[in-house]
Amino acid sequence: MEIYPDMKNKRTHTCGDLRPAHLGHTVTLMGWVDRRRDHGSLIFLDLRDRYGITQVRIDPDSPGYEAAKQLRGEYVIAVTGVVEPRPEGMVNARLATGAVEVAAVEIELLNVARTPPFMISGESIANEDLRLKYRYLDLRRPEMQRSMLIRHQSYQIVRSYFAGKGFVEIETPILMRSTPEGARDYLVPSRVWKGRFYALPQSPQQYKQLLMVAGYDRYFQIVRCFRDEDLRADRQPEFTQIDVEMSFVDEEDIFAMVEELMAELFRSTLGIELPMPIQRIPYDEALARYGSDKPDLRFGLEIREISALVADAEFKVFRETIAAGGVVAGLCAPGCGGYSRKQIDELTEWVKSMGGAGLVAIKLKEGDWESSLSKFFSEGQRHSIMQAMGATGDDLLLLVADEREKALLLLGDLRLKIAAQEKLIPENLFKLAWVVDFPLFEYSPDDQRYVARHHPFTSPKPGDEELMLSDPARARARAYDLVLNGMEVAGGSIRIHRSDLQSRMFEALGIGAVEAQEKFGFLLEAFAYGAPPHGGIAFGFDRLVMILAGRQSIREVIAFPKTASAMSLMDGSPSAVNPAQLQELGLLLERQASEAGPEPGK
Ligand code: AMO
Repeated sequence: MEIYPDMKNKRTHTCGDLRPAHLGHTVTLMGWVDRRRDHGSLIFLDLRDRYGITQVRIDPDSPGYEAAKQLRGEYVIAVTGVVEPRPEGMVNARLATGAVEVAAVEIELLNVARTPPFMISGESIANEDLRLKYRYLDLRRPEMQRSMLIRHQSYQIVRSYFAGKGFVEIETPILMRSTPEGARDYLVPSRVWKGRFYALPQSPQQYKQLLMVAGYDRYFQIVRCFRDEDLRADRQPEFTQIDVEMSFVDEEDIFAMVEELMAELFRSTLGIELPMPIQRIPYDEALARYGSDKPDLRFGLEIREISALVADAEFKVFRETIAAGGVVAGLCAPGCGGYSRKQIDELTEWVKSMGGAGLVAIKLKEGDWESSLSKFFSEGQRHSIMQAMGATGDDLLLLVADEREKALLLLGDLRLKIAAQEKLIPENLFKLAWVVDFPLFEYSPDDQRYVARHHPFTSPKPGDEELMLSDPARARARAYDLVLNGMEVAGGSIRIHRSDLQSRMFEALGIGAVEAQEKFGFLLEAFAYGAPPHGGIAFGFDRLVMILAGRQSIREVIAFPKTASAMSLMDGSPSAVNPAQLQELGLLLERQASEAGPEPGK
């Protein structure tokens, strides 16, 4: 069969265009053969492009008939023909073009295709490694194209929103200075300055603050960030932020700006009106009620602390934990009183695998305790525990005794597990919250010192400046996270804009004056030249799009993502480089790349 790579005819319509209004028109469509069906002497093709699918009918007396017989899935063709109504009863209501078909007069074969390693259309999803290796085919799938279009639409909404509010989009360097804190940097060796390295930005944090010093007042950028950290469904080594910074503002200004953007994004992409304003939850409350700094508010199942009720109970584990300063807290899993021994053992094992000491599970049957532990609690205690836990009827009480934060975080994870297991999470519900009043620092046992919980440029709460050195654990930050359905979709803070306070911050972090000068000297110096009060936020754009597109992993909304082990299966990166390249960079490898095993995709 002859290939006409040069396209004799021009495309007149896409495969999503044709409607009854086009009946009788002669049209030319181009696209991929989705399916070929031979019905006796008639041949039907589903022709696909990113706009949709159109049915093409090839009658035996059509000049394209012989050509059509040789067509296979994913061949690229041009079809010229006449738009006709589908026969009575053959209308396909699920297709936008389903009322019509094109009676082919001419078929041009533009290119052939190998049989793809997985189905392009239809429900069957190949395993993810295969999809990533052949990402260009995966991206041809309508589902992926829908996600990419939502992503595209979101860029446009974000750009026009910020531009409309007087924000200036400014690009910041990709090759920058390596700075401590946060995740591990990706490093790029310098050829010109052998032995020196650039780092890829974990975020443009310092640049955007410098832009405020420079007087740009309202900045935004849709920007790629790089972090060498352990990957998960919501983390990639390179990801995209909507990065925002504003001068002469406080938290309220940032919240208002973000809330209007969120409302606009949901309205324009999904047609959903989000209730505004977004509720605010102090960090301590989020931890106490949901065991998380990113609470999923789509369902209840809140944590209740019952330490006061069981401090003098006969049950030793509870009594001793509380005496040692710990807590007893738990969840009431509604209607789960009938859980089997096996189900409870599984939960207990899971709790242990998460680092918990154990799990006390109490089954309730019509309000009675079906538990061997029942004897350790007085009737009054049992009653008040149930009341405190909000338990009625046939629920399951899941209790943990441990050091406070550990117990709450564990219950937070258990809460999500039970909610998923019991299908307590409603679909198509979007629950937003600001988490506020974060601690300024957190203690890092690895480093044996305090590290910045957000980043070292975050301002303490007014009045907490003294605590930074005297009692760092109690200092609060002017930081905030935006949480959507249990996922942190944005985080930011009001910044320190005075160099004396910034120096105190470094001191609290154990970064000495010399080191601070060496690492952040340029920023400290800039602050000495009239830095305005400023603050900002950055959205995880991929996470936002993932939620808008209804997908479960950010890999589904990134055109060419890496695997969970930071490889690209398609182009085989990271790859070994040739020795001459290393020599030019002045690098000597301690270990040869071959020791790391075969390159991805090989
Ligand atoms: P932060 O580190 O909280 O703040 O990052 C902002 C948002 O980026 C997203 N995010 C990620 N998304 C995908 N993969 C990753 N590896 C990843 N890491 C973070 C999250 C997060 O909320 N400069 C500050 C912001 C500021 O203070 O203005 C910053 O980067 O959704």
